[in-house]
Amino acid sequence: MTRLVVLISGRGSNFCALAEAVDRHELNAQIVLVVSNRPEAAGIDEARKRGIPVAVIDHTACADRLEFDRAVAKRISAVNPEWVVLAGFMRILSDEFIEKFAGRMVNIHPSLLPAYPGLHSHRRALADGVSEHGATVHLVTTQLDGGPLLGRVRVPVCVGDTETMLNERVLQQEHRLYPWVLNLLIEQRLQWDQHARQLLLDGEPCDGVELQQTEMNSA
Ligand code: GRF
Repeated sequence: MTRLVVLISGRGSNFCALAEAVDRHELNAQIVLVVSNRPEAAGIDEARKRGIPVAVIDHTACADRLEFDRAVAKRISAVNPEWVVLAGFMRILSDEFIEKFAGRMVNIHPSLLPAYPGLHSHRRALADGVSEHGATVHLVTTQLDGGPLLGRVRVPVCVGDTETMLNERVLQQEHRLYPWVLNLLIEQRLQWDQHARQLLLDGEPCDGVELQQTEMNSA
């Protein structure tokens, strides 16, 4: 069984969506550890409720970024996962950490990357008056939100949308996108060829898979 470690900092709704997809056998994996850098993260209780081991490594108790990253890397390596899954993990990671898990660490970002990397993507999309927004799953590299794009989902931006409304619409789709993309990776249908710097779907070059919407909640 493919072993996943999920890193969170807060609410953990993407972690919950992954755990539920595992329970429904839609994600052929086992979440072996959840790591949080914040002791108060709501996702910690969600993990405990599900009987998933949790490691809380408070970054404020570490002397510097490297000490924190090394402590996290040690906990991750101890459980030997195939994939490291960032799910609302709000820490910039050091190059040392990223290189250690290169090629097997993914992140979900709430925008159609390369548009709106970094914080406040919904606010910035609304300010620009775009008609379309969404979420992206990508491999993590040392470039912030800039690694190879694996998959994405689009949502419309509606007249009168607030940041909260857009956030909710995107988040609902994130919960479908992340398990879907991860499962394609686990089944090795989706593969990143590092040498050719090319994504492959079922062995064919691909620019990233796109999840189609089945339902739209404009609330
Ligand atoms: C999500 O919008 C995700 O795309 C971003 O941070 C948020 C995390 O939400 N990276 P949650 O903690 O998974 O509910």
